[in-house]
Amino acid sequence: MLPIHQYQEQFLLYLENQKIVKEPKNLYQPIDYILQLGGKRLRPVLTLMTAEVFDGNYKEALPAALAIEVFHNFSLIHDDIMDDAPLRRGNVTVHEKWNINTGILSGDAMLILAYQYFEQYEPAIFKDLAKLFSQTALEVCEGQQYDVDFETRNDVTILEYLKMIGYKTAVLVAAAMKMGAIIAKTSEENANLIYDFGLNLGLAFQLQDDYLDAFGDPKTFGKQVGGDIIENKKTYLYLKAIEFSSKEQREELMHLFSIQLDENSEKIETVKETFNSTGASLATQKSIKDFTLKAFETLEKINISEDKKVMLKAFGDNLMSRNV
Ligand code: IPE
Ligand code: IPE
Ligand code: MG
Ligand code: MG
Ligand code: MG
Repeated sequence: MLPIHQYQEQFLLYLENQKIVKEPKNLYQPIDYILQLGGKRLRPVLTLMTAEVFDGNYKEALPAALAIEVFHNFSLIHDDIMDDAPLRRGNVTVHEKWNINTGILSGDAMLILAYQYFEQYEPAIFKDLAKLFSQTALEVCEGQQYDVDFETRNDVTILEYLKMIGYKTAVLVAAAMKMGAIIAKTSEENANLIYDFGLNLGLAFQLQDDYLDAFGDPKTFGKQVGGDIIENKKTYLYLKAIEFSSKEQREELMHLFSIQLDENSEKIETVKETFNSTGASLATQKSIKDFTLKAFETLEKINISEDKKVMLKAFGDNLMSRNV
């Protein structure tokens, strides 16, 4: 196995060698733009790492890693349209730099491109990868629809929230890892166990994303801080605040999350204070830790060497302490 940063470097080299931009430029330039904006490259690194965890060669996993990253970036373009987000990775979002129609069509093209990268695999592997990918992509759509539906509901439960983030975020992290396992031709049992690991890590990841959306540092976060509050997203922070608050606090919070304000700054500050004073912030941090530990427990069931487990745990710990 290589050190984690080398998987990232190898992935970036591979990405650089892809010739993405051709005619018509207005279709392909936004694709190139979002892919070059950077990001943590978490999912492709997981695909490459997992291939080697199960004694495969990361090089064989590069097309699948790219497929996952292209799909992820497609989902971000469409997500930013749906969330009316101005900023992505510290830069203006695709639909604001070009326009909404461009965001829709370039996004669509990326979904197709992602499928094309799987064509490089032999038929049996191709079939397994494509099947997992289709299932996952559909679940991401389901999660995104729940996320939007919840904006206008005031009775969302924690269980519904967990199902929603499981679909919109965690299944892709899980699938990124399972693809590495499939390419390494490991046992089905191992592939399913690493999927479970990724699923719990993905849940922790989205909880942390929600936390940072409210409490991240605007100078480094790269997205609009408070965007979820502006959009009335029913995050774990919000649901826990509702659960822990007094009657007056609850009424105020429910009111604030049922309206759209032109001037949001006061709403954001009030809501963040309530997240802190009710203990919702602490509860969210605890939950991030719990899901990460749950992922680590799954690892104990997988028959791989101790140093590989240490590496996967280090990856999980890093995700927990990230601020971007
Ligand atoms: C953002 O994903 C969308 C979520 C599922 C939370 P990342 O936080 O992985 O975004 P990048 O790729 O690093 O920018
Ligand atoms: C993103 O959830 C999930 C997908 C893109 C599928 P968010 O809406 O929380 O992601 P960010 O915060 O905009 O990156
Ligand atoms: Mg968003
Ligand atoms: Mg969203
Ligand atoms: Mg978010």
